[in-house]
Amino acid sequence: MNLRFTEEQEMMRNMVREFAASEITPFVERMEKGEFPRPILKKMAELGLMGITIPEEYGGAGMDFTSYIIAIHEISKVSATVGVILSVHTSVGTNPILYFGTEEQKRKYVPKLASGEYLGAFCLTEPSAGSDAKSLKTKAVRQGDYYILNGSKVFITNGGEAGTYIVFARTNPDEIGSRGISAFIVEKDTPGFIIGKDEKKMGLHGSRTVQISFEDAKVPVENLLGEEGQGFKIAMANLDVGRIGIAAQSLGIAEAALEYATAYAKERVQFGKPIAEQQGIAFKLADMATAVEAAKLLVYRAAFLRTNGRSCSKEASMAKLFASRAAMENAIEAVQIFGGNGYTEDYPVERLFRDAKICEIYEGTSEIQRLVISKQL
Ligand code: CAA
Repeated sequence: MNLRFTEEQEMMRNMVREFAASEITPFVERMEKGEFPRPILKKMAELGLMGITIPEEYGGAGMDFTSYIIAIHEISKVSATVGVILSVHTSVGTNPILYFGTEEQKRKYVPKLASGEYLGAFCLTEPSAGSDAKSLKTKAVRQGDYYILNGSKVFITNGGEAGTYIVFARTNPDEIGSRGISAFIVEKDTPGFIIGKDEKKMGLHGSRTVQISFEDAKVPVENLLGEEGQGFKIAMANLDVGRIGIAAQSLGIAEAALEYATAYAKERVQFGKPIAEQQGIAFKLADMATAVEAAKLLVYRAAFLRTNGRSCSKEASMAKLFASRAAMENAIEAVQIFGGNGYTEDYPVERLFRDAKICEIYEGTSEIQRLVISKQL
């Protein structure tokens, strides 16, 4: 593993850093009030960020996976909201079409996703199928040239904003396990595809998370992704990669918490000297910095494996498990270091505190990551 970024990756890092500082930072307050960052996504599309890893022949920037992880990491340092929108759009919203779609499906949808005209979403979770994803109940019954979908999905990131949704439904009711599940590309204007409740979340206030229901939704047979019964594997394979994106988002939060806390501790004077010079606080900063470095190594190690076409399921889960914990712990410590100020909306660390928690939950809880890791030991 090369511990240095290539020149191209360094350029990506600098470009995204500058963009995040100049364009995303001024928008954070609006997102905190619940505004979806459409204008930001439009500018990101102009920079090629909505299709970083998509090959140029499908309208993307054709860059490597590590460049994409760099982008999520740097963006999430400024806004975990924008980080998750981009991560879900790319890894579980677009990649399933790119890797499992027919040439026709790729030509029809991927350029729109790469250009940002469409945002991607992923519909796996249901009210009674969260961690136990293969127990999902949404049904897809073939009728002539269509599949008729019925059921409901919850916690759909980018829901209501996306142009295409990768939807998992049971095509074989006799097969109770994972083999009866198929994947579909569902367009936003499909009849019977209904956007429901907008969740009011603890954090990530600018990202949209909705419930979705299918009431005799008519999906053309040509929108079946892969083969019938292959859906669960498509979901799992894309989540393997998706988890590196969430790990990078977590890393961004952990690093932001460290940077804010360090700067504050150097300024804040108590008992006659900056609190950074007092061991109780200095040791907290040392632990936070160590966690950031360890998370960074795990995240970029998983990215490196993926970039080189190597299997990365265990490493992705390790990166997500560790980095999401680092995000939460660093955010908790940052609020502690800021003291009373940290508990107010006048300082950014309370936002990090609220945004960090979901990293230990979505795209597989920390308990699920341990399951994935332990199965491979
Ligand atoms: N790649 C390819 N295939 C895989 C796989 C992988 N990583 N993992 C499992 N499979 C296959 C298995 O080989 C098996 O196939 P066969 O039946 O042919 O043998 C099949 O899938 C079933 O596997 P298991 O029996 O191991 O399934 P399981 O139910 O015991 O465990 C699990 C699977 C890891 C717990 C899985 O259900 C899981 O990851 N759950 C968490 C769900 C999740 O992450 N949800 C996230 C929702 S998306 C989201 O959060 C996006 C967002 O908004 C940010």
